Amino acid sequence: TWFTLCVRKRQVGEPPLENGWIPFLGVALEFRQNPLEFLRSKQRKYGDSFTCKIAGNFFTFIMDPFSYSAVFRQGKNLDFQTFAIETSRKVFGHADFNDPIYNRNYKEIHALFRQTLQGPALHNLTSSMMENLQTVMLRNKTSEWTTEGLQSFSFRIMFEAGFRTLFGREEKPSEMENIEPTMDNFNVFDRAFPEIAAGFPIYLLKKAYTAREALTERLQHKYLKKNHGLSALIERRMNLFDQMPYLDELGKARTHTAMLWASQANTLPATFWSLYYMLRSPEALKVAQTEVERVIQESNQKLDKMKKTVVLSKEQLDSMSALGSIIDEALRLSSASIMIRVATENFVLNMDSGKNVSIRKGDRIAMFPQMIHMDPEIYENPTEFKFNRFLDENGQKKTFFYKNQRKLKNFLLPFGSGVSECPGRFFAVNEIKQFLALVVFYYDMELKDPATPVDIDCSRAGLGILPPKHDVLFRYKLKDCISE
Ligand code: HEM
Repeated sequence: TWFTLCVRKRQVGEPPLENGWIPFLGVALEFRQNPLEFLRSKQRKYGDSFTCKIAGNFFTFIMDPFSYSAVFRQGKNLDFQTFAIETSRKVFGHADFNDPIYNRNYKEIHALFRQTLQGPALHNLTSSMMENLQTVMLRNKTSEWTTEGLQSFSFRIMFEAGFRTLFGREEKPSEMENIEPTMDNFNVFDRAFPEIAAGFPIYLLKKAYTAREALTERLQHKYLKKNHGLSALIERRMNLFDQMPYLDELGKARTHTAMLWASQANTLPATFWSLYYMLRSPEALKVAQTEVERVIQESNQKLDKMKKTVVLSKEQLDSMSALGSIIDEALRLSSASIMIRVATENFVLNMDSGKNVSIRKGDRIAMFPQMIHMDPEIYENPTEFKFNRFLDENGQKKTFFYKNQRKLKNFLLPFGSGVSECPGRFFAVNEIKQFLALVVFYYDMELKDPATPVDIDCSRAGLGILPPKHDVLFRYKLKDCISE
């Protein structure tokens, strides 16, 4: 019958196979409802690798963290870029950079990530972000307590500062464009992101489509070229795109919308969770305050009305290991990204256990690091926030974690790994650290209702950092010595 024709049969050497009951969807609904529980139950049934049909594609899940490296090493038979560009095109509507007419230049564009987001380039980004954060935070200098949603507070400050750090700003602060419409467009588009990435045509999601097009309009070169303080990343991308004869102006701008999304979509919820967990734990807040005071005092800066901005160098930020641990722990608790590779040939994957698994051409390999982040064998009481989980006995960054008494290489993967590892990861952690250091330095803060926990919204599982289900109120007030 038609149904049996659609159902794939497991072949010798292949992992156990689950076709699901619904011919095309396979197990998509079950998976989307609760990926963590779904994968745990399949792992109990099948062991460390199994194949599931999800929305027309076959995914082989690798569950054993010791076997992740085997996948990362398999450059020859596994492709990331083709699939990533396809997904990105669906969402942002940019050109097909897999097409040979763009591909040569795309390699150069891709190489820019590392050149402009890491190493020496990080110094400029860090100092620009530091200034932008303080411009936004100190715009309002009232000495009154203000009540606001914690999500709204952290999103609006990080969005504006992050946007201006990458895309620049008007020369005179008095002429600074109101960022709100851009932020609203970003939020509307981002909310629809899961549907669009899953294949739902954006043209049918009118609000999201309009928002995306408005962001793209805004990011055209004719506007960006007027800005001051453009990041090297955007400046050099603009130069390269200007040399690509097949791209029109909107085509170039669509790639900048993709960059805007990549730079903000995960950073915003990660900042929220870092601040939220820090405020919810009196111990974490105390340790953070002590660390910020130490670093600021060491560099002879103090709070006063005259001083324009606080400066924290990249080295000082690197030395703030308590804030680093708070951020890592918040990332561990909220990250739910999925790593996907596509098999370009039939091949055999050698698992860490010695088992060999046959993979078919066209199938996908998937890894879901939340399984590691929530593994009680690796992290005791994994659902609990422990501010010092990533600190060793000397208060330095802890780098040893174990499973089955074996040292684990891949224990914290909010930024992915291997060829798809996030090139912005150092900048991302830095900017969250800067944000935390500055709010601790400038404000007195308290959660309105610290006893009630905030639930995580799991509907975006697979896409990165999960947002909170709803906002929480908190109040803040500029410290007396700085308010006007
Ligand atoms: C890719 C996470 C912040 C730029 C990725 C990927 C992950 C990730 C998991 C891989 C996606 C995949 O496998 O398909 C995060 C998290 C962040 C963050 C958790 C914040 C907490 C940033 C920032 C930037 C950035 C601030 C830039 C300023 C990028 C870019 C890619 C990427 C350009 C695509 C790389 C490629 O195509 O090879 N990010 N990211 N990210 N991220 Fe980030």
